[in-house]
Amino acid sequence: MLADKISERFGFDTGVGGDVAAEGALAAVLGRATQRRFRTEPVADGLLKTLLACAQSAPSKSDLQQYSIVVVRDKELRRAIAELCRAGRQMDEAPELLVFCADIRRGQKIAELRRHPHANNNMDTFLNAVVDAAPAMQALIHSAESVGLGCCPISALRNAIEAVSEVLALPPGVFPIAGLCLGWPAEPAPTSMRLPPSVVVHWDRYGDDKLADEIDAYDRRRHERQPIAPNKQRNVDLYGAAPFCGWSENAARQLSQPERAGFRDFLKGHGFDLA
Ligand SMILES: Cc1cc2nc3c(=O)[nH]c(=O)nc-3n(C[C@H](O)[C@H](O)[C@H](O)COP(=O)(O)O)c2cc1C
Repeated sequence: MLADKISERFGFDTGVGGDVAAEGALAAVLGRATQRRFRTEPVADGLLKTLLACAQSAPSKSDLQQYSIVVVRDKELRRAIAELCRAGRQMDEAPELLVFCADIRRGQKIAELRRHPHANNNMDTFLNAVVDAAPAMQALIHSAESVGLGCCPISALRNAIEAVSEVLALPPGVFPIAGLCLGWPAEPAPTSMRLPPSVVVHWDRYGDDKLADEIDAYDRRRHERQPIAPNKQRNVDLYGAAPFCGWSENAARQLSQPERAGFRDFLKGHGFDLA
């Protein structure tokens, strides 16, 4: 039943889902998980190209389609990227690596071709391009998962954004928002428990009065099902390993240290005015 899938997703009975059989697209979305272990068999070219067409079927702001996808097939390039961003085994093992990029360059070129000024190298266009790339990636993930493939998005690509952009010959105005490892799953992936809907979904007006209690309860539910092992806890060198490290403690530990602080400077030097 869909209700069981929803309970599995949140770790408690939400009363949602009703008496509906767990099949089709809703069941697939509710049961999905990021896959980090892949079999070696390749993804057939025809299937990959179909999935890319699915990605391009995603909505885009004003139909401007301000994103690009780089399919990284060259083994040397794959190795170079894996070494640069140290994103884990999935980067070595996944048969396919796709890189989803925000792309304001194409719009600039089109403006030039049509002899109009491009008057929008600004924060809004930057955001639009990022937002265009994200649903394209999600459309590919959803389509891939619907045929039994597994996916792992890789923001770790941005750990070495300058070098990765060079390896992929990304010109000014184009930068990677995330990589996507793709392949046939080697093992089932666990369902990751989500924050309760009462924390994430707001009806009519935003409110977080009960946040502290809700987060405590969520931490306990998650710990019971999937405790965060000491070697998975963030910044153990600074904060030590805790026998009970809830999701919120781990998130706060992560957020306590600046990540990718040079990103803005990279963008500024890579064709984004961010005006
Ligand atoms: C934009 C984005 C970037 C991500 N980057 C990475 C990554 O670099 N490495 C990784 O192992 N997983 C990455 N993930 C996967 C998340 O860790 C995963 O979605 C999250 O832990 C929830 O698990 P689930 O997708 O199985 O529900 C990324 C996910 C998104 C949406």
